[in-house]
Amino acid sequence: MTFISDINDIDNPVSETALSQPKSIYQTHRFAIKLFNAIQMVGCEAYINGLELPDSVIRSILNTFIPICYQRYPFLLVPYEWLLYESEDLAESSERLMRVQYDLPKELFKVMLGEGQLMYPKYTMGLWEKGAKNLEQAQIDKIEDVIEKAQIQDGDEILDLGCGFGCASHYILAKFPNCKLTALNLSKEHCDYMRQKMQEPESYFKPDRFTICEEDFNKANFEQKFDKIIAIGLFEHIGNFFESLKKVSSFLKPEGKLFIHIISSKLPHTIMFVYLEKYIFPRARGWSYHQVPPANSEFVTLDKWFINGSNYAKTLTAWLENFDANQEYLKTLDYGMDYPKFRRIWRLYLILCIAVFEACEGEVLGNTQFLLSKKV
Ligand SMILES: C[S@@+](CC[C@H](N)C(=O)[O-])C[C@H]1O[C@@H](n2cnc3c(N)ncnc32)[C@H](O)[C@@H]1O
Repeated sequence: MTFISDINDIDNPVSETALSQPKSIYQTHRFAIKLFNAIQMVGCEAYINGLELPDSVIRSILNTFIPICYQRYPFLLVPYEWLLYESEDLAESSERLMRVQYDLPKELFKVMLGEGQLMYPKYTMGLWEKGAKNLEQAQIDKIEDVIEKAQIQDGDEILDLGCGFGCASHYILAKFPNCKLTALNLSKEHCDYMRQKMQEPESYFKPDRFTICEEDFNKANFEQKFDKIIAIGLFEHIGNFFESLKKVSSFLKPEGKLFIHIISSKLPHTIMFVYLEKYIFPRARGWSYHQVPPANSEFVTLDKWFINGSNYAKTLTAWLENFDANQEYLKTLDYGMDYPKFRRIWRLYLILCIAVFEACEGEVLGNTQFLLSKKV
């Protein structure tokens, strides 16, 4: 079994341990990583460029190789050296990330993620293990769970970092009449969606209770201090966890609490899939459960949870069904490329993600949540 010390050896040729490794082992591992990821990319790119493969074949390839990879060769999932280091920017490649992913037409997300009068589109895991029978209920259960774990109370002033389409913010405003919310998001499409909602009389997005901050996390600053800060699905885009915690700490009141929800694995190191990095989430990181939150001087960890990956697999399955069921409409939107190619890129993204969360009964890749309070 090869784990983090070996990975550091492989990807950091100047590390002392690498230098003390037999050169032949080091070279074999590097070669294996390159070969594995190159083969993966050839297969993926053949598919998105038109190779006809039924879903069942793609799924069975993934279902065969991913568990082997998790259990025996996890180092193959560290294809880039930057995964091993904290980045200079806090959030990484923000502009490219918006272009490739979050600034795609909001209509795509409305259809794929689902939209209701209370539940705006939500682009993170739903919680199915409480018995939800459909996506909307799973997303409600997830937000209820976050409210409980983050200890949100009526009257709190809350900051929602990387708020997406404002689903959690809207739900909290509906549930707690005396809460006020500030929502940070760099995506213009997502912010436009929330600005439109603010015009609708039935929305809980009212100007005296809800403020949109369209800004990069790297540049964001708030005069106001908050009782609670939630970050659901933002820290996958953070390359420097340690410095980001320092920054977020400065937004909190002394007795305030920070709740983070993040995709993460039980593997001992950060991972990424090359296809997802190139076509879907540039510079994203799948942090290790064991590495987060990093030891830091700002916060104490009050609680930490691991959520089984089957919750995300079911959520992604529902998104794929919505995506497939709405082709006639989706093909009319502008993705900056031919629709057939876009469709293949996105179907492969969803199918791959279902497989990576489902593998090993969801016990390897899932979500980690933690609640932090400021050190006094
Ligand atoms: C995976 S989505 C999660 C959205 C939302 N929290 C939810 O649960 O539906 C990540 C969100 O973070 C935003 N985001 C990513 N990088 C950001 C950055 N550097 N600054 C501000 N927002 C960012 C994206 O635009 C997107 O809305």
